Amino acid sequence: MPWQKIDDYGSDGWSAGDFLWRARHYCSELEKGQVLFFQLPPFALPQDDIDFLVSLKPADSRLHKNISYRPEQDLLRGFSDSASEPRVHDIMRRYAAAVRNFVSLFLVPYAGKFQMDYASFRPLEEEGRDLPLHKRNDLLHVDAFPSRPTRGGRILRIFTNVNPSTDRAWVVGERFQELASRFAEPAGLKRFAEASGALRGWKRGLGTLGLPVADNAPYDKFMLHFHDWLKENNSFQNAKNGKERLDFPPMSTWLVFTDCVPHAALSGQFAMEQTFIIPVEALVAPEVSPIRVLEKMAGKALS
Ligand SMILES: [Fe+2]
Repeated sequence: MPWQKIDDYGSDGWSAGDFLWRARHYCSELEKGQVLFFQLPPFALPQDDIDFLVSLKPADSRLHKNISYRPEQDLLRGFSDSASEPRVHDIMRRYAAAVRNFVSLFLVPYAGKFQMDYASFRPLEEEGRDLPLHKRNDLLHVDAFPSRPTRGGRILRIFTNVNPSTDRAWVVGERFQELASRFAEPAGLKRFAEASGALRGWKRGLGTLGLPVADNAPYDKFMLHFHDWLKENNSFQNAKNGKERLDFPPMSTWLVFTDCVPHAALSGQFAMEQTFIIPVEALVAPEVSPIRVLEKMAGKALS
């Protein structure tokens, strides 16, 4: 099976007693690159809320590519219809809170340690979108955020297909260890590790002089570059081996570390998603995290 179906946790919580062991097991599976699949959302997601979001017209210029919500600041972005704004804001606020509660209970080892990143509602059909190459969702990639460096923290995403009738189709590729062993060197990992070592010494020098300096970790720089490099690589994109298609039915929910599972969204319209950053210290299997895999290859710290 391309995903692991979860039957011992639902919207009422755990149905099994030994949940600490189970939660740790599921964290470990996720960190190694497994996709965890729920037939239905394992948290409250009222049908009225979904119906309202789906009824918004994406062709309307007031509705952008995504509606995004920043839980830590209670900030809604990408939506400017003032009549509907309070309701959309309320829906996204309650959605983010429900998913936060779910992650704290289902992935207990991360509780109290994760950082809430953005939530989003994605109203556009993925198939046939006309986007610049580096922004295309239908090309396999691992995630990295230009505006939010993680310094090795991992990107966990929870998706729900809220389309009433149509699957959301993904393709996933080989997991990070294998991906990195094939492509990190050709993508220039050593160059990033060495250049940033020299740069960090130089920045430390400026810092001791009291001058402000930006300090993006070499890990974040490499991952941003790797995201683009993979999308540009035709032989990787066109290869048939090591790829699996995943068709997520309406109302199914799936969890995945998108920094280690190369993924592409081929088709589907209407999805909700909440992102978390899991710090390295909270990981159950830090040795398989992208930063540790890359550091081992580079022979250098990258954070
Ligand atoms: Fe992605």
